[in-house]
Amino acid sequence: MNHPPYKTKSVEKIALLPYRERLKKIRRAGYNLFFLNSEDVYIDFLTDSGTGAMSEDQWAALMQGDESYAGSSSFNRMQKSVRDILGFPYVIPCHQGRGAENVFNSLLVKEGMLVPGNAHFDTTRAHIEHNLGIPIDCTIASAYNFQSRHPFKGNVDVKKLKQVLKKNPDRIAYILITATCNQIGGQPVSLENIRTVSGIAKRFRVPLFFDIARFAENAYFIKSRERKYRDWPLPKIVREMMRYADGALMSAKKDAIVNIGGFIALRGKKLFQELGPRAILMEGFLNYGGMAGRDMEALAVGLREGIEKNYLCHRIGQIQYLGKGLAKIGIPVLQPWGGHAVYIDAGQMLKHIPYYQFPGQALAIAAYIEGGIRGVEVGSLMEGRDPATHQNKKARQELLRFAVPRRVYSQEHLDYVIDIFTKIWKKRKYIRGVKFTREVPILRHFSSKFSVV
Ligand code: F0G
Repeated sequence: MNHPPYKTKSVEKIALLPYRERLKKIRRAGYNLFFLNSEDVYIDFLTDSGTGAMSEDQWAALMQGDESYAGSSSFNRMQKSVRDILGFPYVIPCHQGRGAENVFNSLLVKEGMLVPGNAHFDTTRAHIEHNLGIPIDCTIASAYNFQSRHPFKGNVDVKKLKQVLKKNPDRIAYILITATCNQIGGQPVSLENIRTVSGIAKRFRVPLFFDIARFAENAYFIKSRERKYRDWPLPKIVREMMRYADGALMSAKKDAIVNIGGFIALRGKKLFQELGPRAILMEGFLNYGGMAGRDMEALAVGLREGIEKNYLCHRIGQIQYLGKGLAKIGIPVLQPWGGHAVYIDAGQMLKHIPYYQFPGQALAIAAYIEGGIRGVEVGSLMEGRDPATHQNKKARQELLRFAVPRRVYSQEHLDYVIDIFTKIWKKRKYIRGVKFTREVPILRHFSSKFSVV
């Protein structure tokens, strides 16, 4: 039994529309789940970003929001949390993760420069490319092997990384480790790998930064899968992880369990002073950076709650429960379990649908029609077209991601999803692919429309 470390004080109503209504709604949405109204969704697994339930302590902290433009005491409290938990002395608040990426990459990335690391998240990649840099994926090969049970699929391939650094001595902007690695299933990075990469970064005199949107989940995996750290308390593991980085970019909407917010945390004063003016230009003054004082209060508390052992144990337990439940009925799911989501291999499950008819999207539509469940395709639809040939790129995997919001759903909700998939599994041969009726050129999965083939 996965014991929840909380009880409910405030509730949000949800309802399941009748089957015929769901059919109407998805048709009207052009078979794109981003166009559904949330009230038409029963279980919303679209993202774990900004969708968590705040605690009573966070709600209480909101009332202490100091909305002063400069010198806000809410900022000071947030800065203290970041310093206490992550150990970085300098903090630049930003409105969310991509705000931090924008400020950061506009300074560090110049035309033709490379950013190697494990797989970058899509907004990260987009910001690097926007500044005419080149993201380089050096994730270990097992990350893309569905059969592999490697406990740290988010690890950087040290050999690949060294090759990139050797070949391009003057073109490296920085190395980035994303922990956990969202792009490959929320898979963690081991402390051993972090330490090795840090050694290499030092040897090549290249700075090392972390994307820490889900650092707490990563720390939990280190504790549970890396024997050496089994007896270490989570805060100690977090501090040990961060020790190796020159700084970190945080989307607080994930592991700080807030609805909005983010920051850049830095070890060095020089970079802080260089980034500061850009942050003021792009995000807002250095004591709020696009957040309200109350947002910073919630963040200050959430950051501490996000590394509590009981909470993380239950959270990761929920992902495991859902994953195991689906695997038991035959659904091919990515293993080992990631930290924030269950990834279903739609390509494997719907072999009769070719990649250019987007099996992940077809399964996402089926999940909505059958049970009012909303997930997101992570496959060839998201991958887009080759800019040169204009052909659809074939993704390495055709996945459907079910991202589980923090502290929101109960085991009964998860059982419901498993029940719905028992039905979908039986009907899988009848699920059909989709084709575009309107294809949007940039980030097409968000706003294109489709018809069923
Ligand atoms: N880095 C990672 C690893 C992310 O997963 C995200 C967002 C960002 C950066 C950007 O942060 O949304 O605050 O601007 N991931 C969300 C998701 C959107 O659904 O996976 P943001």
